[in-house]
Amino acid sequence: MKRIEYTEELQRQCADWKAKGLKIGLVPTMGYFHDGHLALMDHARSQCDKLVVTLFVNPTQFGPNEDLDAYPHDLERDSQLAWDHGADLLFAPKPDAMYAPDHATWVEVPELAQNLCGASRPIHFRGVCTVVMKLFMLVQPHVAVFGQKDWQQQAILKRMVRDLNIPVEIQGHPIVREQDGLALSSRNAYLTQEERAHAPFIRKALLAAREQAQQGETNAEAIKKSIRQSLERDIPMGEAEYIEMVDPDNIRPVTAVTNPALIAVAVRLGKARLIDNILIKVD
Ligand code: PAF
Repeated sequence: MKRIEYTEELQRQCADWKAKGLKIGLVPTMGYFHDGHLALMDHARSQCDKLVVTLFVNPTQFGPNEDLDAYPHDLERDSQLAWDHGADLLFAPKPDAMYAPDHATWVEVPELAQNLCGASRPIHFRGVCTVVMKLFMLVQPHVAVFGQKDWQQQAILKRMVRDLNIPVEIQGHPIVREQDGLALSSRNAYLTQEERAHAPFIRKALLAAREQAQQGETNAEAIKKSIRQSLERDIPMGEAEYIEMVDPDNIRPVTAVTNPALIAVAVRLGKARLIDNILIKVD
């Protein structure tokens, strides 16, 4: 596996592979790999000739009071893991290799970025779309794989690709969880022992909500209320930033359970902001 820092080298190598007719898979990440990232790599690896993993803590998707500077990192460990999971190339640029000082071009999908995480992180998805677009232009992958924990991100990127006719297939990969149900996230590293012990109740509240819908409750407010009550009872030190039921494709809130519907939550727990979601399908 090659580890590279500069866009020119990335572009040259990927163009060379494409000229040889090889199928390229891309897994964009911000590093500090856990089994969720590794599952994305394995998934891309299994269907492509060449796997490009990118590791870049993208400054333009962090707001002024967010955790850009604290974001966990361990490049040597990540390089070894990427290598172990079949990456042919790990692109780990410095911010100035990705953004010129006078960078002025942005890509956004505002209609899908209004709710859920976009409501409290107003510039987040503009930063995500812009950096992912840049990675698409550099790598020109056939397939790009994203985790479904960030469901809204995946929906926005799918829309961006469709609207701008970008020739890449976006694949969502199911959430990878700890045994107790907590969705894997690099930000779980911020949790204290006590917070970590309570964090799996997020998943439990979502499973109970799905059960409630499948038992016949159709009212979104009633389901959201049950989730709020469970979270307040089981994670008393946490604070729900949002509990929403939305259409999984356009991320618009729904008032009654649609088929399918997505329930998504964000919970602030100490220094961590944890997100999770569940897709509801009713017979
Ligand atoms: O999901 C992430 O880790 C990031 O938002 C991404 C897609 C790598 C863009 O920086």
